[in-house]
Amino acid sequence: MKKTGIFYGPAGGRTESVAKRLGELLGPENHDLISLDRAGADDLDKYDNIIFGIATIGKETWDAEPVESAWFDFMPRLEKAKLEGKKIAIYGLGDHLRWPLHFVDAMGQLYRLLQEKGIDTVGKVSPDDYTFEESEALVDGMFVGLPIDEDFQSELTSQRIKAWVKQICSEFN
Ligand SMILES: Cc1cc2nc3c(=O)[nH]c(=O)nc-3n(C[C@H](O)[C@H](O)[C@H](O)COP(=O)(O)O)c2cc1C
Repeated sequence: MKKTGIFYGPAGGRTESVAKRLGELLGPENHDLISLDRAGADDLDKYDNIIFGIATIGKETWDAEPVESAWFDFMPRLEKAKLEGKKIAIYGLGDHLRWPLHFVDAMGQLYRLLQEKGIDTVGKVSPDDYTFEESEALVDGMFVGLPIDEDFQSELTSQRIKAWVKQICSEFN
C-alpha cells in the first residue's frame, strides 16, 4: 500500500489525537500527519491515499460564518486540487448527546464537496452502532466516513478505529 497523508483540523484537540492513533495503526513508515494549518498548496499532490479528519463545531465549519477554522482556510485549496485517482477516506469528530440533530455534519459537508469534484469516499460505516437523530453525514443509509465521539463514547474509539483502518487498507491504492 502506498503512503497515506492524514490531513486533519483543528489541531490540538481530539481530531489531532485520533489522527495520531490512526497513524500508529497504519505504521510510522506508511503515513504522514499533516495539520491543515501547516498544509501547503502542493501537499495533497504527494498522496494517492488520503485521510481527512474534521470536527463538527457548529458555525466553525467552513461553510458557515468565516470564523477561526483550519478547514475554512483549507477549502479553497481543496476546491482547486487535482484529486482524480486518489482514494479518500474521512473521519469526523462529533458529540451524539449534545448535538443529536447535527451529529458529525461536517463530514457530510466535506463529502458533498468531494462529490462535486467527482470523488467518492472509501471507508463508509454503518450507523447501526451509533445513537443520534439526524446527520448530514448519512448518505444512502451509510455514514460517508468514520464518526468518532470522544466526548461521550471514548471507550468505543479504539475498536472503531481498528476496524476502520482494516477496512480502508483493503480499499486504498
Ligand atoms: C461550539 C461547539 C459546537 C459543536 N457542534 C457540534 C455539532 O453540531 N455536531 C456534532 O456532532 N458535534 C458538535 N460538537 C462536538 C465536537 O465536534 C467535539 O467535541 C469534537 O471532539 C471537537 O473536536 P476537537 O477536540 O478536535 O476540537 C461541538 C462542539 C463545540 C465546542
